[in-house]
Parts: sequence; structure tokens; C-alpha cells
Amino acid sequence: MKVAVLGAAGGIGQALALLLKTQLPAGSKLSLYDIAPVTPGVAVDLSHIPTAVEIKGFAGEDPTPALVGADVVLISAGVARKPGMDRSDLFNINAGIVRNLIEKVAVTCPKALVGIITNPVNTTVAIAAEVMKKAGVYDKNRLFGVTTLDVIRSETFIAELKGLNVADVKINVIGGHSGVTILPLLSQVEGVTFSDEEVVSLTKRIQNAGTEVVEAKAGGGSATLSMGQAACRFGMSLVRGLQGEANIVECAYVDGGSEHAEFFAQPVLLGKNGIEKVLPYGEVSAFEANARDSMLDTLKGDIKLGVDFVK
Ligand code: NAD
Ligand code: LMR
Repeated sequence: MKVAVLGAAGGIGQALALLLKTQLPAGSKLSLYDIAPVTPGVAVDLSHIPTAVEIKGFAGEDPTPALVGADVVLISAGVARKPGMDRSDLFNINAGIVRNLIEKVAVTCPKALVGIITNPVNTTVAIAAEVMKKAGVYDKNRLFGVTTLDVIRSETFIAELKGLNVADVKINVIGGHSGVTILPLLSQVEGVTFSDEEVVSLTKRIQNAGTEVVEAKAGGGSATLSMGQAACRFGMSLVRGLQGEANIVECAYVDGGSEHAEFFAQPVLLGKNGIEKVLPYGEVSAFEANARDSMLDTLKGDIKLGVDFVK
């Protein structure tokens, strides 16, 4: 397996690279790319960790050397929020960054599974799809918006609230990755019930969790370490699927033929070709059905912004 991390010198990129260096299967290759000149040094630093994962770092304007032969590409290149900003405020800078990187992916490793972390995810994934379509290499089963942070946050907050072992908490989070488009399906969590007030306040906390970190960091960026963990969990699931492991399921923001929107976060079964099957997200409560239907204008607007940007 070769995994490439683009944006690898950043807060998420370095945490993700560290986790991948220690968790990828023996014999894997990890390549780090960032415009920041420190990137080869980050790779040298990580190369002293005694695992059988070969690591190389590349800096400069062209990601191509990092992408050659990549099976999985995880992209966290771009700017992060400061207090008072929405994720959509990042569009002006990050849209062009994602477009340019995906143009290189389309030429260099068009069959790679690509996970987009860069915000606004609801829009950057649509940008990536359009760029791939233009290049004639789009495969909807190989492109993912990484929404795993919403899942691990939900698991953590539910376990805290209900005094559960967090390892036992499983949840689907559907929709997208910003504000009201993040919808944790609390009604489906096994072995636990929530009052109406708890559903409202917990849903809101999960939707605002990114802002919680942005405000706590007070101008120093957004979630990096928890996102590194989330991206590693997702990246490892992609790798395990590629290696033929059975029953690898993750929620992700995908072009999965949803009746709700062109891109929609929902559970997917992963395999040797990326998405093997888009899974139904199951029964939802009246509260969740209403929240799902109410988010769709926002989500579709976010997607259109990305499509129009490339067109
Ligand atoms: P950061 O500023 O710490 O790192 C970003 C890195 O991208 C920097 O090292 C920078 O040099 C690099 N970069 C910028 N332009 C580049 C380019 N053209 N090519 C390669 N590298 C480039 O930011 P961060 O905290 O790591 O966040 C990165 C992105 O991830 C932000 O857009 C943030 O909003 C997003 N994010 C998404 C989620 C999610 O759940 N999907 C969670 C947290 C953060
Ligand atoms: C998050 O959910 O933490 C990220 O999308 C970063 C942000 O800007 O909130």
C-alpha cells in the first residue's frame, strides 16, 4: 500500500502522518507532500520511528513525486478557520488548492482512493468530482469526503453523557460536514435512550463541535489532533478494504446515488475498489427526518458552489 498525505506539514497532516507511520501494514509506503519547505524534514523525523513503513517527504509546487503509485491519497492542504468564520469562508482559498491538487491526482494516480479533508468539505468534494470528470477519470466509488470526525465526536459525547464505554458506542452521522448538515442518528444508538431535550442539545453540540475547538484555540486554528485520529481511522479503513478485509463500513460524504442530494454522507461498505456498496442509513426518528429534510437546501447550495467553481 502506498498512502500519500497532501498538506502533510500542517496540523492535521503531521498528526495523520505520525499515526499512519505507526499503523500502516508492514511494507507500506507513506509519502508526504506540502508546499512548506519543512516537509522532507517531517518525513526524516518520522523515519526514525521503528516501523516497517517507508516514508518520504516532498515540498515545492508540484505534488507529482508524492503521488506516483499512490493507492490512497488523503488531502488536508489548505487554510483552517479562525473564530468568527464559517467553513464556507474558507472556500475562496481552499477551492483553488483542492482543484489544483486533484488535477495532479487525475493525471498521476487516477485509480487512487481519494479522501478530502480540506474544508468546506460539502463543496471541495464536488470540486474534486468535477475536476476528475473533466479529466475523464471520475469514479464515484473512489472519492470520499472525510466526515469521520463527526462520528468519533458523536461516539465520545454520547459515551460521556450516558456513562458508557466509548468502544461500545456506534453511530451513523449523515448529511454533510458543516452546521445543520451534520446529522447524528441518535435514535439508532443501541442500548441507550435520550430525552427530547438531550436529542436537541446533543445534536447541536455535535454540529457545533468544530466551532467549540476553533473558539478554544482562540485564533490558533481548528481541530488537528482529533482530526488526525479521525483521518487515520478512515484512511486505515480504506487500506483494509483495498487489502480485501471484509465488513469494513464507514460513514463518508459520497456520490452514492442518494435521493437527498448529489453528495450525501452515509454508511458505505469498503472494498478492493473503494465503495463496494452504499448502505441504507436505516430508520430515523421524526426529529431526524425533519432535520434531514431541512438541511437539503443548504447542502445542495454548497454542492452547486463547487460544481460552478470548476465549470
Ligand atoms: P494547517 O494550516 O495547520 O495546515 C494546512 C497545510 O496545508 C499547511 O502545512 C500548508 O502549507 C498546506 N498547504 C497550503 N496550500 C497547499 C498546497 N497548495 N499544496 C499542499 N499543501 C498546501 O491546517 P489544518 O489544521 O491541518 O487544516 C487543514 C484543512 O482541514 C482546513 O481546511 C480545515 O478546515 C480542514 N479540516 C477538516 C476537518 C474535517 O472534518 N473534514 C477537520 C478539521 C480541519
Ligand atoms: C471540524 O469539524 O473541526 C473541522 O471541520 C474544522 C472546522 O473548521 O470546524
